[in-house]
Amino acid sequence: MSRAALQATAKPTLDPARIKRDFPVFDNNPGLVFLDSAASAQKPAAVIDGVAEFYRTDYANVHRGVYRLSARSSDRYERARETVRRFLNAASADEIVFVRGATEAINLVAYSWGMTFLKPGDEVLITELEHHANIVPWQLIRERTGLKLVVAPLDASGGLDLAAFEARLSSRTKLVAVTQLANATGAMLPIEAIVRLAHKHGAKILVDGCQAAPRLPVDVCALDCDFYVFSGHKIYGPTGIGVLYAKSAILETMPPWQGGGDMIEQVTFEKTTFQKPPHRFEAGTPDISGAIGLAIALDYVEALGRDAIFAHEEELTGYGVDKLSRLPGIRLVPAGQRRLGILSVDVQGVHPHDLATVLDQHHVAVRAGHHCAQPLMDRLGLVGTTRASLGIYNDARDIDALAAALTEAQKLFA
Ligand code: ALA
Repeated sequence: MSRAALQATAKPTLDPARIKRDFPVFDNNPGLVFLDSAASAQKPAAVIDGVAEFYRTDYANVHRGVYRLSARSSDRYERARETVRRFLNAASADEIVFVRGATEAINLVAYSWGMTFLKPGDEVLITELEHHANIVPWQLIRERTGLKLVVAPLDASGGLDLAAFEARLSSRTKLVAVTQLANATGAMLPIEAIVRLAHKHGAKILVDGCQAAPRLPVDVCALDCDFYVFSGHKIYGPTGIGVLYAKSAILETMPPWQGGGDMIEQVTFEKTTFQKPPHRFEAGTPDISGAIGLAIALDYVEALGRDAIFAHEEELTGYGVDKLSRLPGIRLVPAGQRRLGILSVDVQGVHPHDLATVLDQHHVAVRAGHHCAQPLMDRLGLVGTTRASLGIYNDARDIDALAAALTEAQKLFA
């Protein structure tokens, strides 16, 4: 599809040129073509200024002070939790635990829920599309619980082989832990079907929404997942803050995984009793300003419209696939039947790091390497890929710049 056709067919939704003006990084780096939002997204001024404003006006430690400033800070922190609840359509704000990021959220589930409920021979089912954050925590607790890690394979098109996935489910499967959108390739998984199948076999289901939450409307009640995790920094929020959603009935059965202040009811040297969720899982002073910045980011995203963001990412992904697949010598890494927001390419004989270095000389910022998904790279027979990932500020001109830079790079390596 040509750029003009793309513009003609695009729904009257996002205006990336206008959105770009909300992100100071583009003013400060003229000509920057930023295509690495899957690694970490840029921040709008609303988030940057909002965090500064919070430090200037309402900052104090939370849940501790009797003075008014602390009460205001606590109130803003808890209102941020309510914003996340609304964003995910969770039933209660008590189902929202603030963590450092999706990696910490998965580790929390592994060390609290997994260490409590998994017994030798129990199975955790993941897929070949996972990044390390959804592989390594299960391996770490495998050593301690005796769980068996089962991996569902890709199909020939690079998507999840749903029949093979289903064949790996049994009464031994206690947890299915899957990404909703593969970070390395952009493959979308049929998450509704996966949740249904997991529950049919009596397994709990954890959805890694790192790449999906910034791109798709998410409704955890409608999806009926047991756990949902995402990171703030990939959804235009600050680094160091993320979210674990878990159904109340499950969170209440989970023991603390870290001990310290704020997560206790009563401490003596003999015995400690713990707060109810979510505070049971937030030991120590939390990332207060991170939570507030995340809430501002989520409000920003919601104001743009999540359906509009999804439509924009779909259109631009289609444009990118069309454009890049016309370039001789460039192979798009397969991503199944449905790809969203991520375009990974392979150029035979050129190392992704070399390619990305040349792209940078053309002001095109992409990620190169294994994308923290080494088993997937092995499965695809690649050392890595060169990955362009989209955000709300990208438009067809960014894809055109990527294509032009790839063409120039190829001449160098020819
Ligand atoms: N998981 C992040 C990425 O895909 C870091 O780049």
